[in-house]
Amino acid sequence: MSDLAFQQCMAPDCGATYGLDEVMYACRRCGALLDIRYDWPRCTVPKSLSFFESRWGTPGRSTEARADFSGVWRFRELLPFATSEELVTIGEGRTLLQQADELAAKIGIKPSCLYLQYEGLNPSGSFKDNGMAAAFTMARRLGRRRVGCASTGNTSASLALYARHTPSSDGHSMQAVVFVGGDKIAFGKLAQALDFGAKTIQIDGDFDTCMKLVQEAADRLGLYLMNSINPFRLEGQKTIIYRVLEGLGWEVPDWVIVPGGNLGNTSAFGKAFIELRELGLLKHIPRLAVINAAGANTLYELHERENIRFDGGRWDRARVEAWYARMSAEGRRAKTVASAIEIGRPVNLPKALRSLEAMNGVVRQVNDEDILDGKALVGTHGFGCEPASGASVAGLRLLLEERVISPSDRVVCILTGHQLKDPDVTVNYHRGSRDGMGAGSYANPPARCPADIEAIANLLDT
Ligand code: F0G
Repeated sequence: MSDLAFQQCMAPDCGATYGLDEVMYACRRCGALLDIRYDWPRCTVPKSLSFFESRWGTPGRSTEARADFSGVWRFRELLPFATSEELVTIGEGRTLLQQADELAAKIGIKPSCLYLQYEGLNPSGSFKDNGMAAAFTMARRLGRRRVGCASTGNTSASLALYARHTPSSDGHSMQAVVFVGGDKIAFGKLAQALDFGAKTIQIDGDFDTCMKLVQEAADRLGLYLMNSINPFRLEGQKTIIYRVLEGLGWEVPDWVIVPGGNLGNTSAFGKAFIELRELGLLKHIPRLAVINAAGANTLYELHERENIRFDGGRWDRARVEAWYARMSAEGRRAKTVASAIEIGRPVNLPKALRSLEAMNGVVRQVNDEDILDGKALVGTHGFGCEPASGASVAGLRLLLEERVISPSDRVVCILTGHQLKDPDVTVNYHRGSRDGMGAGSYANPPARCPADIEAIANLLDT
């Protein structure tokens, strides 16, 4: 364990510090979220980001070679909370930044200006693996045997996979316990959790209910909590940004666009950029656009309509609480086809506000129709993504329309999950069998045809 790292309360007027081994998910003194902090002057940080290019490793047997192969740990000097021997990896983070000129042309962006970061190419098919590599490193270090999360699907899939592959410090495998909401979870994700042997508990309720329950269960049932409220998760997710920068030859884009659910990525991205600037490794940082589904738009409402700002840590908690109280009183619940981001009470809200402040960010909401069109557009480019990730592209189209983003801005859309996570939604989109929605604007429906070569020839000619 590194003695260069510690936990710190994010509230500037508190700032209490705790050792890395102290298990808690909020400050004991004031209840605010915790950050992992580093004593940077005592850390060995490369003088330039291009140092990391030497790390494109091949899978080897040594701990160093395995760490170099991981898209998380090859940046280990930027999240130095563990020693090389302690690092958990199953080859996460070998993901791709792709220039998407064809897609750019379709939505009115200039060539060389649009990039897609395919985090669906991770071992469990979503960005969560970046965070799990870091959080499991900590779970094993702490000797924990039982790990748990609430999930809209991807966290549970990733948790279950890592639990299978991470023997606890006493050599036993870890038990994964996942809380998923009612029947909203996409089958691709549920299938993973079941296959990997997680104890899967379907709660009568939505994600927000599961999140509350799992926090209660953490203490009572000895679960080590693996949601993004665990600050080690966010350390792993910072590396998405390092890989984006690497893909751009260490140049800073004008915009990073990310879907917002529980706001873990939003929080991690801001932290990554703030630290890189502090370390003198970047001179300026890009702007951030966080995209909510219109049916799950808490951050949009609070940031854009209620004008809640981080304000150097003095954000108006009373107004946020009042807003949540109204949401409860009116019986409003999150609802969107992008089930991954169907979240009404994002646990990382304060950290997300901090990122928005640091990155001069904006928040937008997009409706389900636009999310699915965004997803279909990504599909036409090759590879693909799940519905929640389509929100990035839908948000970009909206921001272009509003002229907040200009066609010559360099933009990176983060695609958070793999296309095969939620095939039902995709097939329904193309077939036009969506409740009350008809076929999507970019539908490519399968053609029915008799088993006859002439009929097939006719079909191909039309
Ligand atoms: N995209 C996908 C594919 C997700 O699975 C999630 C979150 C998000 C975006 C939102 O990310 O929380 O960092 O704002 N999924 C969580 C889960 C909640 O349980 O799998 P965020």
